[in-house]
Amino acid sequence: MFPERLAQDAASIQSHFDLVLGAFADVDVTRAMAYATRGGKRLRGFLALESARLHDIEEDRAIWPATAIEALHAYSLVHDDLPCMDDDDLRRGRPTVHVEWDEGTAVLAGDALQTLAFELCTCSQVGSADIRADLALTLAKASGAQGMVLGQALDIAAETAAKPLSLDEITRLQAGKTGALIEWSACVGAVMARSDPDPLRRYARAMGLAFQIADDILDIEGDAQKAGKRLQKDTEAGKATFVSLLGLPAAKARARELVDQACAALDGFGPKAETLKEAARFVIARDS
Ligand code: IPE
Ligand code: IPE
Ligand code: MG
Ligand code: MG
Ligand code: MG
Repeated sequence: MFPERLAQDAASIQSHFDLVLGAFADVDVTRAMAYATRGGKRLRGFLALESARLHDIEEDRAIWPATAIEALHAYSLVHDDLPCMDDDDLRRGRPTVHVEWDEGTAVLAGDALQTLAFELCTCSQVGSADIRADLALTLAKASGAQGMVLGQALDIAAETAAKPLSLDEITRLQAGKTGALIEWSACVGAVMARSDPDPLRRYARAMGLAFQIADDILDIEGDAQKAGKRLQKDTEAGKATFVSLLGLPAAKARARELVDQACAALDGFGPKAETLKEAARFVIARDS
């Protein structure tokens, strides 16, 4: 069952962070890193661990890339919340890193979480040098100016653009901003097993898009207490989202269609893929 599996995986990832960060010098920047990695749904880490299970990869190997992607995601959130980006003071139900410490510490904690991600997915426990290099190369592509950073840049540019983005433009923005890291996570098992990542990639592309549509919907009709972050920020910032473009009912219908597509992509795996299918259904039903 997905909820139990997600809870177990979240706990394993937290223990792994405790182990890794516990060995670092106890200074502001490392305290801020530990703070930023706490909480969260751990959906990306779960995807990495679950795709590894699908390919019979041992958990003591897969936990490294799973923790790596959660470190990279945490960095993206710390920087996303900065005053020069979304200027948010609440994340995962707690003050954001730059509010709890200061902007300099938040920038540096983000930087160090990003490099930590590469350290974690290239350490010897993960497997052969080829597998580790592949994980690092694909993570670099997914997080940088062809992936997450590109999406974030397009998102910021859209706030001041003369005309609203088209559906194609928003889809491209999302594929970077949210899609790229979700896709990397879901492909971890295939990369580690040296098998064809195509079904998992198709699953992740559809579920990543559904995930961002759900985030845009949450921003409009979510409960800030449950979400643990400020809402109604997109409309305030004049941000183009799936909801601003399609309207709520069509955005919800599109998200449901995408979840069906995501599930269909895994049919070839049989019942072994049921937990991943449940995860896809969860992303559009979540309230945080
Ligand atoms: C929030 O991601 C940022 C987006 C990419 C939309 P999550 O909703 O996965 O955040 P956490 O990790 O659970 O806090
Ligand atoms: C953040 O997107 C995406 C990344 C950090 C890559 P949002 O700005 O929509 O996320 P929230 O709504 O602040 O969580
Ligand atoms: Mg943002
Ligand atoms: Mg934000
Ligand atoms: Mg958002």
